[in-house]
Amino acid sequence: MPDSDAVMTALAGVTDPELRRDIVSLGMVRNVAVDGGRVSFTLVLTTPACPLRDQIEADVRAAIDALDGVEDLAIEWDAEVRGQAMREGAPAPIKGVKNVIAIASNKGGVGKSTVAVNLAIALADAGASVGILDADITGPNLPTMLGLDEGILADGQGGLHTLEAFGLKAVSLGFVLPKGTPVIWRGPMVGSGVRQLLHDVDWGELDYLIVDLPPGTSDASMSMAQEAAIAGVVIVSTPQKVAVEDATKAVGMFDRLGVPVFGIVENMASDIFGRGGAAAAADELGIEFLGEIPLDAAIREAGDGGAPIVATDPGSEQAQAFVRLAEQVAARCSVLQYAGESSAA
Ligand SMILES: Nc1ncnc2c1ncn2[C@@H]1O[C@H](COP(=O)(O)OP(=O)(O)OP(=O)(O)O)[C@@H](O)[C@H]1O
Ligand SMILES: [Mg+2]
Repeated sequence: MPDSDAVMTALAGVTDPELRRDIVSLGMVRNVAVDGGRVSFTLVLTTPACPLRDQIEADVRAAIDALDGVEDLAIEWDAEVRGQAMREGAPAPIKGVKNVIAIASNKGGVGKSTVAVNLAIALADAGASVGILDADITGPNLPTMLGLDEGILADGQGGLHTLEAFGLKAVSLGFVLPKGTPVIWRGPMVGSGVRQLLHDVDWGELDYLIVDLPPGTSDASMSMAQEAAIAGVVIVSTPQKVAVEDATKAVGMFDRLGVPVFGIVENMASDIFGRGGAAAAADELGIEFLGEIPLDAAIREAGDGGAPIVATDPGSEQAQAFVRLAEQVAARCSVLQYAGESSAA
């Protein structure tokens, strides 16, 4: 008959493929119970959006099956997202927020907001608690994308607080300002605006806060990187050569600011605009390619109509592209947490 020591020893031989450490020393195995030939335990993943769960399950089952006398194996799944690793000299974390993930590009209109919203919903659907912040304070995008009215909080009652949409906690200056108000903020004002959006809002407890940045190396992007510790940045690029060059500039900017870049996602991949440019750029820059989102009318209509495709048609091929992206981003986030930890140790 197996015993729990034998089970733990067997599981210590299973490696998490992303984190490259055994699942026992990672603390992923809990509640081991052995009753005759029946073995059960809980596997606690580092993110509910784990892309490699099937592989981990197969490896775990093989390891346990190899033990003498095992008749049955019951695995319970759970996930605990950990806080981002703190880098030396990094700005203060946001209260209650474990990981800040920024969505950036050097060029406008490449689909940052589309990616931010669908990525956030995909993470929430996987079971994570997720917030989304519209850091584009001069031209907020989230009211439209999430189908929330501009100026909905304009009466000032209750101050700036999160609104619930598609399972997300959302904050945008667009909720506060009456429709049509021109926001002409410059330099230092942009910085304090972003600081308030980040730190003065009660986010509650979040696994991931997705920040939809305005395009370019504008004041808002720079102050974001200086106002809050960012776990990592997702750079959005279209397939065209110029767009890829722009993405390269964005990567350079975050590198100089000491902010980790998770990788590049190619948006609007198509037979007309081409595809593969962003993957080639990622390769050249030595960073991760996070996936490809197709150019697709359904994605545009859903986003511009205030009902993102991951929420309205989660089973569709287009939505699944965002789900895969979310898994890649969540995995990068976990990997950097552990890398930060082992270099700090
Ligand atoms: N994969 C896609 N397929 C079709 N349309 C898309 C796709 N991604 C984004 N769009 C559309 O392209 C337009 C620009 O996208 P979006 O607003 O997300 O870009 P952005 O980078 O946030 O822009 P800005 O720099 O102005 O903030 C929108 O109309 C959006 O619906
Ligand atoms: Mg936008």
